[in-house]
Amino acid sequence: MGARLCLAWSCCALALLGGGGVGFVRADDSLNSAVAEAFVFSGAQLTVLTGDVLTEEGVFTDYTETDGLWRTEKDNGNSIDQTVWTSGMVAGMFWYQYEATGDEAMKTAAEFYCSGLEGLESEEDNDTGFQILNSFGLGYRLTGSDDYLQRVLTGAEALHDFRWDGNIPAYWSWENPTKRPDWDRAVNVDMMMNLEILLWAGLNGGEDHELEVEGHADSTWKDIVREDNSTNHVAAYDIDTGEFIETGTYQGYTNSSTWTRGQAWAIYGYAMVYRFLPEQRFLDRSIGLLKYYEDNLPEDLIPPADFDAPESATDNGKDSSAAAIVSSGLLELFLETGRRGMCVLHLHGRDPFRSARS
Ligand SMILES: *[C@@H]1O[C@H](CO)[C@@H](O)[C@H](O)[C@H]1NC(C)=O
Ligand SMILES: *[C@@H]1O[C@H](CO)[C@@H](O)[C@H](O)[C@H]1NC(C)=O
Ligand SMILES: *[C@@H]1O[C@H](CO)[C@@H](O)[C@H](O)[C@H]1NC(C)=O
Repeated sequence: MGARLCLAWSCCALALLGGGGVGFVRADDSLNSAVAEAFVFSGAQLTVLTGDVLTEEGVFTDYTETDGLWRTEKDNGNSIDQTVWTSGMVAGMFWYQYEATGDEAMKTAAEFYCSGLEGLESEEDNDTGFQILNSFGLGYRLTGSDDYLQRVLTGAEALHDFRWDGNIPAYWSWENPTKRPDWDRAVNVDMMMNLEILLWAGLNGGEDHELEVEGHADSTWKDIVREDNSTNHVAAYDIDTGEFIETGTYQGYTNSSTWTRGQAWAIYGYAMVYRFLPEQRFLDRSIGLLKYYEDNLPEDLIPPADFDAPESATDNGKDSSAAAIVSSGLLELFLETGRRGMCVLHLHGRDPFRSARS
C-alpha cells in the first residue's frame, strides 16, 4: 500500500477559512462524490496493507519508501514494532475507514492492530498521544470497549507522569538528545499533539491536567512560535531553573528555518486545544499559524518538508503528511467556528497527493 501516512485524516478535509485560501476548490454538489470516491480509494489501499503488508501481530509501519512501498523494517533490519511513533495510526486508519463505511473487515483489522499495541500504554514514550489515542481512543469511541478506555486513561497518566517534571513549564520531549546532548530538557512543537490525550482523558474519567496543558500551549507559543507566526522546531530549557534557553531544530533544515510538519502540528494543536479549552487566544493562534502556512504554500499546494530549504536540498521533498495534518486542523477550525466564509475542499485525497501504486 502506498497511501501516505495520514491518509485517514486527509479524506475528509473540508474546511472553512476566513479568507485567503489560494487554489482551494469550493465545495459544491461534487463534494459528496469526491469524498465517497476517496473512501473507495483508501479502502482499497487499506485492504492491501492488512492483507499483504502488516500481517504479523506487533509489526507496524511508519512511511513509504520512494518506490511507494511501505517500510516494515528499520534501517538495522529489525521489524518496526509498537514503539514506532506511528504505530497507533495504523489502527486509526482502519477505525476511520470502518466508521465511514461500516465495513466489518476494517473493524477486524483495527482490532488486530490494537492487540499488537497492548502494553504500550504503560511505557515511557514521548509519542503516547499518537500511539494510544488514534488506536484505543478511536476504538473506544466506536465500540465502547471498557478495555480500550482503560488503556487510554493509563496512557494519559503515564505520559503525564513521565513528561511533566514540574521544573520546566511544559511537557518535555527529550533529555540530552544525541544531536544536542547539551539540552537537558527539550520541548518540540510536535508535543502539542500529545495534549489531546491528556485533555480527552480528563473528560472521560481520567485525571484533570488542564492547567499543565494550558501552560504547555502558552510556553510553546511564547518560546517556539516566532513573531511572524512561523515555528521553530525545538525550545531548550534549563532543568534546574525551568528557564527558556534557546531554540533550535532537530528535523528542520537549519536552526532558524520552518520545518513544515512542525508548523502543521501547531496549526492542528492549537485548534484542538481550543476544542477542549475554548479560550480565544488558542483559536487565534491556530489561524495565525495557518495564515503563515498558506502564504508560503507553493502553487501545487503540497508543501516542501521545510519552507526555508532550497528545492535542491537533500530531504526537502514534498511532504504530503504535513498537508494532511493541516487539513485535519482545517476541519477542526470549521467544526469549532462553524464559519462558512469559504467552504473548501483541500485537494488532499486527490491527485497529485495520491500514491501512484498500491
Ligand atoms: C519523540 O522522540 C522521537 C525519537 O527521538 C522523535 O522522533 C519524535 O519526534 C518525538 N516526539 C515528540 C512528540 O516529542
Ligand atoms: C544548530 O546549532 C547547533 C549548535 O550550534 C549546531 O551544532 C547544529 O549543527 C545546528 N543545526 C543545523 C541543522 O544547522
Ligand atoms: C500572528 O498570529 C497572532 C494570533 O492570531 C496575530 O495576533 C498576529 O497578528 C499574527 N502575526 C502576524 C505577523 O501575522
